[in-house]
Amino acid sequence: MKKQNTQDALSTVPAEAQASATEDLDSAWNGVVGRRTFLKGVGMTGAAALIPAALTTTGAMAARRAALTDGDVAILQFLAAAELIETDLWQQYNELGGVDGGNASYQAALSNLDGDMPQYIADNTDDEMSHAAFLNAYLKSMGAEQVNLDAFRTLPSSKATGAQQIGRLTNLQKLNVDTSWYTRYRSTQNPDFGATFPQAVTIKNEPAIPLNDTETPPGTSQPVPPDSTAASRMQAIANTAGFHFAYIEQGGASLYTSLSLKVSSLEVLRIVVSIGGVEVDHFGLWHDKCGNAVAQPLAGVTDPETGLTFPDLNAPPFGGEQFQTNLILPEPASFIRKNLPPVSVIRPSLTENAGAVATIESFTADLLFEGQTPQFFTTVMALARAADAAERQAH
Ligand SMILES: [Fe+2]
Ligand SMILES: [Fe+2]
Repeated sequence: MKKQNTQDALSTVPAEAQASATEDLDSAWNGVVGRRTFLKGVGMTGAAALIPAALTTTGAMAARRAALTDGDVAILQFLAAAELIETDLWQQYNELGGVDGGNASYQAALSNLDGDMPQYIADNTDDEMSHAAFLNAYLKSMGAEQVNLDAFRTLPSSKATGAQQIGRLTNLQKLNVDTSWYTRYRSTQNPDFGATFPQAVTIKNEPAIPLNDTETPPGTSQPVPPDSTAASRMQAIANTAGFHFAYIEQGGASLYTSLSLKVSSLEVLRIVVSIGGVEVDHFGLWHDKCGNAVAQPLAGVTDPETGLTFPDLNAPPFGGEQFQTNLILPEPASFIRKNLPPVSVIRPSLTENAGAVATIESFTADLLFEGQTPQFFTTVMALARAADAAERQAH
């Protein structure tokens, strides 16, 4: 693989184009042209992502960039990266289990959680694609460089029927899904005060998509309860996906909340809270659906490969406030100061628990990036640190 660094994947703003607000348009435009000339000199290698933005940057765009803080650009660029990552994983789910997906057995197993699961998967995928495309288009419109992670699409696809054979950014084939969000949102405690929460289901080294047609033939029927080894394996995979959907989207809900507090421009804040609201919407949906994997009549499925069991969380030793599956709306929790009354809020929202670095660290622990190159981690962590370092500048 060619040498890769942050500059390759992240088109940073040309220094010459970072005209201060006091510079006039001609000056800014000359800077862009200067950068473009320089790029022609170094050729396409490593800078391919820079050139289209520079070529299409108008004087008006450069002026907009000058009015935007570097912190806002860093926030938008990290969110663009996060949305490209989300899009990549959701596309894998959609190819196999979406309403137009190609793996009937996986679709059937997902539909055991809710008959609308394939439609919701397709729609969630569309949403993520729109988030990534909008954020990059907005960056471009503002004369700022877009984010392109294509160089890191190196991970293998599933071999199961339905999956395209293309390089991926993310790996859904062996996940450690942190399900503590499930008990966190049922608790009155807030992780931003240091509280920790037990797992709802301990999901270790589990695939969330079918791996191949040998262990999970795509024509296998998926009755409830499963009636074969292959059906049990596929149902455990679909159940894992259900919890992973909610895990990803609750992370997005906290991430957008956290980064919104660092935004300076009212227009950028409008973008961050408006997309963030949809992450919350996704989370609420998946929280409801994954509960059906651990409620009757589906509860009790065991993966024949890994031994993972999805218990009935409504029956002893589970049940109650911490586990009851229909308690999906956030319990009021401590917030801001402990002597204030509990309030139903997104949590966590502090940078160290919910920010960009925390999100990448969590996705890494999830094994979502298993097999990625050191350059990938260097790149996304650089983007994450820049976003977390942004400070709100009130005008
Ligand atoms: Fe998104
Ligand atoms: Fe999302």
